[in-house]
Amino acid sequence: MKIVGIVGSNADFSYNHQLLEFIAKNFKSLIDVEVLDIKDVPMFNQSKDQTDSEPIQYLNKKIDEADGVIIATPEYNHSIPSALQSVIEWLSFKIHPLDGKPVMIVGASYDVQGSSRSQLHLRQILDAPGVNAVVMPGNEFLLGEVHKAFDEEGNLKDAQTAQFLEGCIKKFIRFINVVNILDAPEGMKDLSSTEDLYATGSIDTTIKDVDMMADDWVEQAAEVTGAVEGNTYVKLDRGILTVDQINYFLKSMPAELTYADSNNQFLYYNYKYEAEDMLASRRPKQVGYPLAECHPKQAFSSVAWVIQQLRTGKQDIVRTHVPTHGPDKFVVHNYQAVRDEEGNYLGINEYVQDIKPLIDWYLEQTGQQLTGGKVDAVSGATSKVDTVSGATVKDN
Ligand SMILES: Cc1cc2nc3c(=O)[nH]c(=O)nc-3n(C[C@H](O)[C@H](O)[C@H](O)COP(=O)(O)O)c2cc1C
Repeated sequence: MKIVGIVGSNADFSYNHQLLEFIAKNFKSLIDVEVLDIKDVPMFNQSKDQTDSEPIQYLNKKIDEADGVIIATPEYNHSIPSALQSVIEWLSFKIHPLDGKPVMIVGASYDVQGSSRSQLHLRQILDAPGVNAVVMPGNEFLLGEVHKAFDEEGNLKDAQTAQFLEGCIKKFIRFINVVNILDAPEGMKDLSSTEDLYATGSIDTTIKDVDMMADDWVEQAAEVTGAVEGNTYVKLDRGILTVDQINYFLKSMPAELTYADSNNQFLYYNYKYEAEDMLASRRPKQVGYPLAECHPKQAFSSVAWVIQQLRTGKQDIVRTHVPTHGPDKFVVHNYQAVRDEEGNYLGINEYVQDIKPLIDWYLEQTGQQLTGGKVDAVSGATSKVDTVSGATVKDN
C-alpha cells in the first residue's frame, strides 16, 4: 500500500520529518511510505498562481498516486505552521489531490501537549470543501517533548509509544480499505466502467459457444473442451494428481475459494457447503456467470475497484472484514491476484475465512490473551498518554 508522508515543517532539521522516517523504516512490512518535504513550496498567493510550478505539481502527482497520506504537523503558536497551511492552500486552489483521499494526522512538538491543538486545527482545515480529505477519526498520535523522544539512530525511545503508533498505522490501513471499498468517494463512482464486469470480451482460455448464464455451464463447457475428470492424471508444477485428488485437496482448504479469470468470468469454487451454510454464499449454477451477474449493481464500483487494484499491480491482495455471522466469527474476504511467472494478471483468488479459530488457537498455544486494556478508552492513547489532553505524559 503506497503512502505519502508530508512533513508539515519547512525547517532544515525537523522532528516531524524524523517521525515520518521512523514510520517508513519501522512499518515497511505494513506500508510503503515516501516522505515528502515542503521546503521548496512557495508561499500561497492568490494573485500569483504557481500551481504549475515543479514543487506543487510533484506533491500533486505523489498524492494522486498514493492510497493514503500521513501528515506530520508541528505546533506553532497553538496551530499549524504557515508553511503547511500554504501547501494545503495550493492543493485546494486550482487542483484538489486530497479530495476523497484517506489522511492520517500525526504530530511532534516541543510542548508536553505535543501538537494536540495544531492537530485539531489541521482536522478542521482538511475538512474544508476545497480540500475535502477523508481524515481518520480518533487515533491521535501526539509526540510531546519531541527533543527527548528519539535516540541517536532516530528510533522512538519509548517502546509503548512506538507500539501505539503501530496500532494507529494498522487502523489507518483498515480505514483506507473501508473508505475505498464501502464509502466510495466521488471519484470512485465511475470505476464500474473501468472493468468489463459482464465479461463481454474473451481471453485465450475463454470457453466459446457456451452460454455463460446456463445453469449447467460446467457440464456444457466440459463437453466442449473435452475436460478430463475422475481418476485421470493431471501434471502440475510441481506434482501429479488425479482430478479427484485436486478436487478433494481444494475442498479441504480451510477457506471458501473462488476463482474468477482476467475476463471477469466466475470459473470455479470449492463447492463443499450449500449457499446458506457458506460465509459468502455461492450456488453451483452461478459458475460460468460474468461477475456482474454475481453482485448487485450497487456493488459494481467496489468490485471494479478491487479488480483494478489487482490488475494494475497497485496491490497484490485486498482484504476486508465483513462482519457477518455474529461476534463468534471474524470473517475476512481476501482478494488475491493470480499472476503467471511474468507477473501477468490472470484473475482473482478470493478466499473467505473465519480467522477467529486460528487466533484463539494461537493465543492458547502462546499463553497470551487480547487485553485491549492498555489503550485508554477516552483518548484511545496508551497509558503513557494523558487522558484529558491526549498529550504524552512527561517522563521523570
Ligand atoms: C513560532 C513558533 C511557535 C511555536 N509554538 C509552539 C506551540 O504552540 N506548541 C508547541 O508544542 N511547540 C511550539 N513550538 C516549538 C515546536 O514544537 C518545535 O520547534 C518543533 O521542533 C517544530 O517541529 P519540527 O522540528 O518538525 O520543525 C513553536 C516553535 C516556533 C518556531
